[in-house]
Formats: sequence, C-alpha cells, structure tokens
Amino acid sequence: MRNICFVTGNQNKIIEVEKLIKNFKLISTKDLNFYDEILETENTIKGNAFLKSSFIYNKFNINCFSDDSGLFINALGGDPGVRSARYASEISDKEKNINLVLKNLKGEKDRSAAFKTCICLIIDGKTNYFEGSVKGVITSKRLGSRGFGYDPIFVPEGHDRSFAEMSLEDKNKISHRSIATKKLINFLNQK
Ligand code: IMP
Repeated sequence: MRNICFVTGNQNKIIEVEKLIKNFKLISTKDLNFYDEILETENTIKGNAFLKSSFIYNKFNINCFSDDSGLFINALGGDPGVRSARYASEISDKEKNINLVLKNLKGEKDRSAAFKTCICLIIDGKTNYFEGSVKGVITSKRLGSRGFGYDPIFVPEGHDRSFAEMSLEDKNKISHRSIATKKLINFLNQK
C-alpha cells in the first residue's frame, strides 16, 4: 500500500480522513519528522492549499494533500475569507473574530455568507483540487456552544440551527469540509 501524507497539524482531521481512505496508508507530517509551520501567505484558500502541498511534495517527494478553509461574507466583500483564522488579531482568537464580524455587520440587511474549503492533492507529479462550500446566513448573536471558529454565528441554508447547535455528525453531513473531503476520497479510492 502506498503512503500519502495529509499536510496538517490538526490530528482530528487526520483521524477523520484515515477512516475513509481505503487504498493508501495515511501519514502525517510528524511521520516525516517535519514539525515546522508552513506560513499561509497566499491571498486565496486555493493558493494556500497549493503552497502547503507543494512545499511537502518538493521537500520529501511524497504524494500529499492539504486543505484550507474560510468564511466568506458577501456584505463584507468576501471577508474574513482567506484570513478567517486571524481576522481580528494576528494571534487567532475565535471570540475576537466573531465580535468583529458582528460589529462589521451591524445594521446590515444582507447577511448571506458561505464557508468554503479547497483541498490540493499532488499525486505522481499532478495537482488536483477538490472544493466544497455551504451557503448560509450570519446571525446577529451567538447561538450554541459546539464546534469551533465561526460556528456559533453561521446558520446553513435550509436549516434553523447554527453549526454550533448541531452535533458534529449533523454538521459533517453538510459541511464545506466534508463535501471537499468526499470528493478527495472518491478520487483516491479509484487510484
Ligand atoms: P482551516 O483552514 O480549516 O484551518 O480554517 C481556517 C479558519 O476558518 C478557522 O480557523 C476558522 O476560523 C474558519 N473556519 C473554517 N472552517 C470552519 C468551520 O467549519 N466552522 C467554523 N469556522 C471555520
């Protein structure tokens, strides 16, 4: 069985994907004894996903993939977007980020937004992208306490609960990340 590396520091993401991949052995950057942070300096999530995958592919010559996600709010011209993790301050702070979004949307009627994920896979020298998105609206206050990031202020289209009010299982049925991940898994399982 061939190895494939998931370029992420997030162990939960690895566990989730590991269960789904059938014909590759999933390894992490730790297995490569690589512990540095690859700075996400591009101005699109696609660019950042490519940056991380191409760095590891070139350094270790190993098939690999990485993901990048963000929350894109229409009335804010797509912000926080690619800067979602560090929207309010250089050190990522979920509460500050949510407060800034709510402040910037105060009095705004158009509260439409979308979470987007882009996965970049580099395999046998070829680059492939898998995307997922989920539309929704930004609430005027926090709802629920589960999840992470902007989950308490995002209600997906066709639902009446925020991501933070849903179980992880329910969120994963519709989330941007799971849509992109399913596309990746389908592709890899046919290899
Ligand atoms: P990452 O690329 O998956 O690390 O996501 C970057 C940032 O986007 C996170 O730090 C969160 O602020 C935000 N984000 C991405 N996905 C989600 C989600 O499913 N719920 C809430 N926030 C998210």
